[in-house]
Amino acid sequence: MEIRVTTQTVQEIKCDALIVGAARKTGPSEKGVALSTTATVIDTLLEGLLHERSQDGEFQGNLGELITIHPTGRLAAKRVIVVGLGRQEKVDTQAIRRASAIATRHLQNTGAKQVVLALRWESTQIDDARVAQAQVEGALLGAYQFSIYQSTGNNGKSISQVLLLADDEHKNAYEQAMRKGQILAEATNFARNLINEPPSVLSPTELAHRATTMAKQYGLESEVFDEAKIKKLGMGGLLGVAQGSAQPPRFIVLRYRGAPQSSDKGLALVGKGITFDTGGISLKPADRMDEMKGDMGGAAAVLGAMQAIGALKPRINVTALVPTCENMPSGTAYRPGDILRILNGKTIEIVNTDAEGRLILADALSYATQEGFSPIIDLATLTGGIVVALGHTMTGLFCNDELLTDDILTAGRAAGEKFWPMPLDDEYGEQIKSDIADIKQTGGRLASSVTAAKILEQFVGTAKWAHLDIAGTSYVDSKKPYQEKGGTGVGVRTLTELAFSLAR
Ligand code: BES
Ligand code: ZN
Ligand code: ZN
Repeated sequence: MEIRVTTQTVQEIKCDALIVGAARKTGPSEKGVALSTTATVIDTLLEGLLHERSQDGEFQGNLGELITIHPTGRLAAKRVIVVGLGRQEKVDTQAIRRASAIATRHLQNTGAKQVVLALRWESTQIDDARVAQAQVEGALLGAYQFSIYQSTGNNGKSISQVLLLADDEHKNAYEQAMRKGQILAEATNFARNLINEPPSVLSPTELAHRATTMAKQYGLESEVFDEAKIKKLGMGGLLGVAQGSAQPPRFIVLRYRGAPQSSDKGLALVGKGITFDTGGISLKPADRMDEMKGDMGGAAAVLGAMQAIGALKPRINVTALVPTCENMPSGTAYRPGDILRILNGKTIEIVNTDAEGRLILADALSYATQEGFSPIIDLATLTGGIVVALGHTMTGLFCNDELLTDDILTAGRAAGEKFWPMPLDDEYGEQIKSDIADIKQTGGRLASSVTAAKILEQFVGTAKWAHLDIAGTSYVDSKKPYQEKGGTGVGVRTLTELAFSLAR
């Protein structure tokens, strides 16, 4: 797909469709919609047609609402798509991103090849460049398809060119914003591809292979620990979980040096990389087990973020640590009742082999702590409990540092990803006391996301640390107007924004 900035006038741009925006007016005496900058120009050229179509209530400007207008010769564009931006006073970059995604998806599904993004929104509240970036992100995320395993491919439905409309004065700023949006969206889509791959294809070895291939392409250093090295280091959690599978585990390390002179180890990003989670001996029910191919969503997010960081180059050192294996039941599988020894020497009494994520993360967090990284951010599809608590809308955020919490919330807002702070109160620690080992693997049904986080906390020493439980947000089980079913790539954009804010 080609993507670039254009400074042609709206009248002369030849394309299948021009996307403009309109917001819903909400004042008591206000009727109709507020048109975006380009929509106003088009409305004048079409003698008030856009306003007319909204007057009778056909189009109200609700977020994602669409109407198609055929300019019949008065513009070079074949179609104009007006997309709703939601309530006027609430238009923000996330509204622009969603609207752009919905319109682009609709256009792709209806056969458009060349589309123009003209969602520019003049407002004192949002930055012009951020709006441009959000348009590009939305379009590339909305156009994402995973069709390599369908014999008919994408049925020829694929957008080939995206143009971002700018004026001469803003051309450079728009080009920069476009580049940033494109890098972030491509990195998110890289993560989504990893999640969507079948688990037979994306084994731990293949995940490592894709990580090192990407690293080469983006100028990152990479190192992959094989089973022998993992044993030598004493990663008993990763080995324990992996021992039921025919696939050997891997431990992936990618390094980006954005501050080579600094002695600060910098940021570590840790991602849960369970390429398939059957539950092991504590086998999961069959219903929707297929979705457990996405149990490496944390790993995918971390690798996607490294791709974006490699391209955008913040001045900070960032290291990705990804423990990866498969959780299978078999004659060699680990069992409830077993005791595993983690890299930092602590022992864990196994209660339920389906609580495998915390075990492989315990090794990775111990490794990160031993190496002196701070802050350490881990991402994991860790618990069903977080899905019950926050649904598919927000990611659970557990953090031992207030400033880091704020940084993540702010980065999330810029990225259009939502996080909700969750507790790490010490009283929850009571639930993971063991009679036979240092700690018990699970804390029972109550507050299961919190007790899972309390286990991870045991392995971070004095580092600043945040744990993002993305079990609800990393995978969507049905199509949305702005998104395909499958991996979302959540975390990629927030982590990249975070790297920039920590670099400052
Ligand atoms: N991978 C799952 C968590 C999960 C659930 C991810 C739903 C995505 C969607 C994890 O390994 C798991 O099975 N957790 C158990 C732990 C329990 C046995 C203590 C859970 O949360 O139910
Ligand atoms: Zn599990
Ligand atoms: Zn799992």
